[in-house]
Amino acid sequence: MTADDQKKAAAAAALEFVQAGNKVGLGTGSTANHFITALAEKARGGFDVECVATSRASFQLASGLGLRMTTLEKQSHLDVTVDGTDEFDGNFQLIKGGGGALLVEKIVATSSRYMVVIADQSKKVDALGKFPLAVEVVPFGVNATAWKIDRALRICDLKGKLQLRLMDGKPFVTDSGNAIIDITIGHIPEPRRLDNLLKSIPGVVDHGLFIDICGIVLMGTDDGVKTFRKG
Ligand code: 5RP
Repeated sequence: MTADDQKKAAAAAALEFVQAGNKVGLGTGSTANHFITALAEKARGGFDVECVATSRASFQLASGLGLRMTTLEKQSHLDVTVDGTDEFDGNFQLIKGGGGALLVEKIVATSSRYMVVIADQSKKVDALGKFPLAVEVVPFGVNATAWKIDRALRICDLKGKLQLRLMDGKPFVTDSGNAIIDITIGHIPEPRRLDNLLKSIPGVVDHGLFIDICGIVLMGTDDGVKTFRKG
C-alpha cells in the first residue's frame, strides 16, 4: 500500500464521523483532498452537509465538486473538522502547516466540537519536531520577529534553523496575507511551553503546533485504518 492509499483509506473512514445535517470543517492538503472528494461523492447521493474550507484550494475543490459551502462569518460553530497533519504524537499533539494553511486550519478546528485527523502511518512520531515548524508572521518587521522566535527557542533550550518560506523565489504569502518562517528543530520535548512562548511574540500570528485540539486520529496502515481516541 502506498502512503497515498493509506491517506485515501483514512479519509474514507472519516466519513463515519460526519452525520447528515452537520457543519463540517474541511482541511487542506493531499489527505484532506481525499476526504473532500469522498464527502462530495456521499453528498451527491443526498447526504446533506454544509462545509467551511480552511484554504482557497480546499474551497475550490469542495465547491467545484458541488459541496454546499458556508463560512465562519455566518456560523460560529461547526460539528466536526476533518484535516490532515504533518506529525502527530501519542498525546494527540500535532505539527501542521506544511501547506501553509495553519492559521485558518486552527481557527476552523477550534470552532468544531471535535477534530478528526486523517493520516498515513509516516505521520506518527514519538516526539514532535522532525517536520519543520511553520510560524505564520506579519510581514512587517519579519527580521525582528525572527530574532524573538530564536530567543524563544533558546529559552526552551532548543536550537532551530529559521528559514523564510519561499515560493518561486519569492516570500510565500498565506491566504491571510502573512509570511511563514519554517523552523527546523528536530525534537520538541515540551511543545506546550514552546506554544505559549511563540504565541506571546508580537508579530507571530500563529504557529503549526496544535496542542489539545485533536481528539481522534485515523491512521491508514497496510493492515487497515487504525483509530486512536483521546481519553
Ligand atoms: C496544511 C497541512 C496539511 O494538513 C499537512 O501539511 C499534511 O498534508 P498532506 O495531507 O498533503 O500530507 O497542515 O497546512
